[in-house]
Amino acid sequence: MKKFLYALIFVFAFSNCVFAFDFSMRDSFSQTMLVNDKAVSFRSWLDISYVNNPVEPDYQKLNVYIPEEYFNGQSINGFTAETAPILMPNSVGGYFPGKQLIPANDTQHGGANISLMGLSKGYVVITPAIRGRTLKNGKAPALIVDYKSAVRWVRHNKENLPAGDTEKIISNGTSAGGALSSLLGATGNAKNYDEYLNEIGAFDERDDIFASTVYCPITNLENADMAYEWIFNGINEYHMRDSREMNEKQIKASDELKKLFPEYVDNLNFENYSLDSNGNGTFKNFVEELYINAAQKALDEGNEISVDWLEIKDGKILSADLKKYAVWATRMKAAPAFDSLNMDSFENNEFDDKHFTKYSFEHSNAENPKLADNEKIYVMNPMNFIGKADTAKFWRIRHGVKDRDTSMAVPAILALKLKEFGYDVDIAAVWDVPHDGNYDLNELFEWLDKICK
Ligand code: DHB
Repeated sequence: MKKFLYALIFVFAFSNCVFAFDFSMRDSFSQTMLVNDKAVSFRSWLDISYVNNPVEPDYQKLNVYIPEEYFNGQSINGFTAETAPILMPNSVGGYFPGKQLIPANDTQHGGANISLMGLSKGYVVITPAIRGRTLKNGKAPALIVDYKSAVRWVRHNKENLPAGDTEKIISNGTSAGGALSSLLGATGNAKNYDEYLNEIGAFDERDDIFASTVYCPITNLENADMAYEWIFNGINEYHMRDSREMNEKQIKASDELKKLFPEYVDNLNFENYSLDSNGNGTFKNFVEELYINAAQKALDEGNEISVDWLEIKDGKILSADLKKYAVWATRMKAAPAFDSLNMDSFENNEFDDKHFTKYSFEHSNAENPKLADNEKIYVMNPMNFIGKADTAKFWRIRHGVKDRDTSMAVPAILALKLKEFGYDVDIAAVWDVPHDGNYDLNELFEWLDKICK
């Protein structure tokens, strides 16, 4: 009898982890918020651990938000409890840890954030907190391991979830969070993460997703320095916290990295996009076209555009000049932009205060230069998995025209690689937008509604 009792206590204590999460038995609360003067009601379950052996329990947990209508057999926006897509935005920025993205009317763009907007449009919203570089156990690849674990938790609870279609999971993120969103989208079920996932007790479930939405991704880190110099070479003043001139070593790095970029693009073996040794060619045309299309859209919407790097005639943008664009946009980061020669960038910190490119390792200013583990660099780059893993079918990628945190070439390469493998990609640059995300939620949800229905 005693044994039976112990077993019962054990089972109850670990029911959160071993078994599916019983929503009806767990505390939830109801909330109503306004979105454009319309009341949006939903139920919330908070702080649910999504792994069995958390190493950072304050972060390895998630919130579940479900529109109230689904508890009454009603539909919203054409979705029902069975068909509602599951939106899983992350709040990671700067490769810092990110907390659960709580529904709120608090955006700098005015109005509902993505979680609240999602609920108003009938999406089930599940928001994981995620480890980041400033936590003891938050270095690469902790972020993606957590995001995957959260997806696995959702699949593990498929039968118990009061609403939501686990075949319609959507990621979302901005900047480092955009990198993370693209990584989740690209790497579905890739075996390379198994060991990390097992270590923290992630559920043995699939972690592929349906769609990935990505804003200004600080991704493809080991190639992003070259991509940056391909655009910003020749501009020696940079504007990080204050304005400074690059030193001689940085200028030399800029020249050398710029020269290396065409070879990188060449090695991607795109069928229709390449660069000659001077950095000109069809890939450059593609990037210029992103800028041209952004400007044309803004012009067509009645905005005035007067910049010296665009040729405009009779309301039509005829061409863009990347060299002049860079002068207009200004350089934000000294070369190398990501793998800093001083080994002190956000990204170096993400890789445990190590270099992650051969170039910076060989030219390091650090007293004791270190190179990150190859495998860790590999699993942080979505480019390595596109077409090899169970990559998401649908992609929406946005990057501001005024963004100089990374080169436009980075999202462009991501999009072209995805397209080459037959994925459905909607990529655009956005006029007048700096390093930012989720500023166009109406358009984002129009796109999501289209792919989900
Ligand atoms: C972010 C911005 C950066 O410039 C960078 O190098 C890394 C991350 C961010 O906003 O997330």
